Amino acid sequence: MTNRFSRISALRSNFLRLNQTGEISFNIHFWLVIVSTALIAVLYYSWQYWFPWFWRYFAFEYLNRILGVPFIIFPFFYACFKFGWRGSLLAWFIIILTLTPLFFQYYLLHREQIVLNIGFLTIPLAVVLAAAFELYWREEQKQRMQEREKERQDYLAKTLSIQENERQRIAQELHDDSIQELYYIASTAQNIASDINNPGETRRQAVSMNEGIIQVMQGIRNIIADLRPSILDDIGLIPALRWLIQHVFQNYTIDAGLVVNGTIRKFSPDKEMIIFRIVQEALSNVRKHANAAKVTLTLTFATDGLDIEISDDGKGFNKEEMLQDLSPEGKLGIYGMSQRAQLINGTLELKSATNKGTTVLINNIK
Ligand SMILES: Nc1ncnc2c1ncn2[C@@H]1O[C@H](COP(=O)(O)OP(=O)(O)OP(=O)(O)O)[C@@H](O)[C@H]1O
Ligand SMILES: [Mg+2]
Repeated sequence: MTNRFSRISALRSNFLRLNQTGEISFNIHFWLVIVSTALIAVLYYSWQYWFPWFWRYFAFEYLNRILGVPFIIFPFFYACFKFGWRGSLLAWFIIILTLTPLFFQYYLLHREQIVLNIGFLTIPLAVVLAAAFELYWREEQKQRMQEREKERQDYLAKTLSIQENERQRIAQELHDDSIQELYYIASTAQNIASDINNPGETRRQAVSMNEGIIQVMQGIRNIIADLRPSILDDIGLIPALRWLIQHVFQNYTIDAGLVVNGTIRKFSPDKEMIIFRIVQEALSNVRKHANAAKVTLTLTFATDGLDIEISDDGKGFNKEEMLQDLSPEGKLGIYGMSQRAQLINGTLELKSATNKGTTVLINNIK
């Protein structure tokens, strides 16, 4: 509804703008329409005196009880062709005004003829307006599709670059931590082999080797957990989300809770991973941006789907401003969430206002 109103007011302001800036008055086509309208009007009003040949035409219109065919054939269609719906509307008004005295002169005694004539002149106007609006909506839709396509491409490009950075980070971590640690373990083992007759030193080195191996294992485990949280496969979605809440806010003083409504049911592992990633992003946004005292993750299972709500009482943000500069640099989180929500047939809705907290809703996951 709001959408339709805003469209109508946009059309209105476009119309007014065109008149205010004087675009029309400096346009040669506009003057062509006006001059041809005036000429045809002169024909209509003076044929009896100067243009008797026009009688044949006029007689045809008169007999058929229609007036204004030439007006429609030239000025009106020309205006519509050159100026679209706005021009045709203006031309139509001018034509009706020009013909009004004629209507009264010939049809005063038969009022229904006036109505018939206005009706006759309204048909082309309706057709032109319908066609123009249809073209306008199409153009608007095309633009929206192009914007969406551009967003998708930006997203793809950023995802690829993030993937590349991630690979680089993992390679760096494996090199800096695991390989260095393994190198140290290997040289300790070599020391043990060459110093086997010193039991005290051998024992100390074996203990340090053991610690080193545990450290490497922990490092590799962290990398694996980052890459794919096995916790989902191991313990299921709800406990994994409970773990996630603790994990995300472990060093933060925030009241973070999980509420589950309805009867829990399982989704495919892929879908559960997508749900996990969406919640992970929403929670990390709360941690990074919200400065909230409380955050609640609510899962509502219904027979035909699942709704998820992540709601905080933090500082919130201005949605319009934020959505405008979503695609440039970084800021992939919300866009990624909405893309992921689509993958699981859900819709993402954001509710936020400055100092009024933020709520992320993903409805109808199937
Ligand atoms: N819960 C929240 N509270 C306050 N502001 C938020 C919240 N969630 C998002 N925002 C605002 O919306 C912006 C966009 O969020 P988004 O997740 O898309 O990007 P980001 O977190 O800045 O970067 P990225 O997620 O790509 O690392 C944030 O920069 C922040 O200003
Ligand atoms: Mg984010």
